[in-house]
Amino acid sequence: MIRHFLRLIDIPTGDLKHLLSEAARLKADVRRGIRPPILAGKSLGLIFEKPSLRTRVSFEAGMAQLGGTSIFLGDGAMGKREPIADFARTLSGYVDAVVLRTFHHTTIEEFAKHSAVPVINGLSDLSHPCQALGDLLTIQEVFGGIEGKTLVFVGDGNNVARSVAVGCGVFGMRFILAAPEGYGFDNEFLVRYHHSFPKAELILNGSPYHAVDKADVIYTDVWTSMGQESERQERVRKFSGFRVDSALLEHAPAHARVMHCLPAVRGEEVSADVIDGERSIVFQQAENRMHAQKALLAWVME
Ligand code: CP
Ligand code: NVA
Repeated sequence: MIRHFLRLIDIPTGDLKHLLSEAARLKADVRRGIRPPILAGKSLGLIFEKPSLRTRVSFEAGMAQLGGTSIFLGDGAMGKREPIADFARTLSGYVDAVVLRTFHHTTIEEFAKHSAVPVINGLSDLSHPCQALGDLLTIQEVFGGIEGKTLVFVGDGNNVARSVAVGCGVFGMRFILAAPEGYGFDNEFLVRYHHSFPKAELILNGSPYHAVDKADVIYTDVWTSMGQESERQERVRKFSGFRVDSALLEHAPAHARVMHCLPAVRGEEVSADVIDGERSIVFQQAENRMHAQKALLAWVME
């Protein structure tokens, strides 16, 4: 069976645990100057319908560190020049795995249906599983473990929030979403979540000030995701009470750390002093994308 990585919720817990421990091992190897070329001769195709710094470069650099090569196609005019199915059948005859960043999650599903090689979701409107994987590695490093900790996500119940919530469910971390009314998780997601993790604590709480009082991690993301630009003005108005700033941090335990998937809009979802301050771990988080995805690349191409 082909090992696709489309949504975290579809990946068995044992495999996710394996990915995290492999990521930690590969990171330690890089620190010691060891880069085993376990993917020598393999190639990775990348199709991105949206901009990217972290996802694109961490995959390409990670692939190079593992001895493989990558081919970046931009959006490849996928679905415009030829049908997604033809694109997938053709490309998967050349490369050993594909990373896709799309507007619609259904594009990734359609591609995976026709691909002869593993497909990795590099972000869709629905989810961002690679982000969550790197984030779990970061939480493990910073806190020495994940289970029993509390993560409070302040802002939009978006692609990143969904994937992080699932990661928390898998690893026994309490997840609290503080979102404005109408911007929480949809019912379909909640039903599936509770079905997959009957014991998980997922709390939907409108007030960020109340939510952060037992937080180990305070996580935020942009109020307006890629593809939602036309909603920006309305979102800025609705999310104005959901900023991670020093006033909010005063309500959180002193040890709580701030995470953000980046890119950030300073002055909107996070204040400059907080994201650039000593409680922010956002660049450790960004670096860990690469270590986590190296483990993922090895796993899908095994
Ligand atoms: N966090 C993240 O996915 O960043 P990019 O959009 O730069 O890839
Ligand atoms: N929610 C953001 C994440 C960017 C990495 C977006 O989809 O634009």
